[in-house]
Amino acid sequence: MSSNIVIAIDGYSSCGKSTLAKALAQKLHFIYVDSGAMYRAVTLYFIRHHVDLHDHQQVAEALKNIHLNFHSRDYQTHITLNDEEVSEEIRRMPVSDNVSAVAALREVRHEMVKQQQRMGKSKNIVMDGRDIGTTVFPDAQLKIFMTADPKVRAERRYKELHEKNPGITLEEVFENLAHRDYQDTTREESPLVRAQDAIILDNTNMTPDQQLEFTLNKIKSLLDPE
Ligand code: CDP
Repeated sequence: MSSNIVIAIDGYSSCGKSTLAKALAQKLHFIYVDSGAMYRAVTLYFIRHHVDLHDHQQVAEALKNIHLNFHSRDYQTHITLNDEEVSEEIRRMPVSDNVSAVAALREVRHEMVKQQQRMGKSKNIVMDGRDIGTTVFPDAQLKIFMTADPKVRAERRYKELHEKNPGITLEEVFENLAHRDYQDTTREESPLVRAQDAIILDNTNMTPDQQLEFTLNKIKSLLDPE
């Protein structure tokens, strides 16, 4: 059995997974990996290079030209796509509108999962996404499945995006989250589903501090069952 600890956090769009994952990583001195940022960066590349999602050959060729890297600074996600820092651009609507279609492609998933599994080897990590507890790390020591009321999730994400994108509307954000949740839960390849052994965390009425405390208590009882 491996001695490193993996915490897998999965759940619906914009339900606070990354907020919790970052806080946990900081508290526990673990590495934080935002797997969604990887799918977003691939999507940005596909948009820029007009990759036809129905053409498997083109998709496979494009993937060979994509090099992603995380640079950890203060537990924020800093991701580079072929050495270009794209952390902000991948959060904008053109990427959000296309990412779930890209993430549904078998070739894309196989490549990302392979890279994610490599990152979790021999390191203590917290990874958030959609299939971390089911596919990427089915043996993770702790699995959390996060959810929250869809309206609350849209309001939180709208607040986050509005500062940098004043033209954005709450309706647009709500529609995007609903559409992505639909695509993510109904796709063929490792759809978003709760792992049987995942703890459900509904944070509709919780503050970030409360969700952190809830999870730290779970970790404590897991690592020190007395
Ligand atoms: O931050 P938010 O919850 O809105 O999404 P994200 O974590 O940045 O993920 C963006 C999209 O990537 C999701 O809607 C999924 O389509 C895809 N994704 C995935 O398929 N598998 C993962 N492990 C992570 C993200």
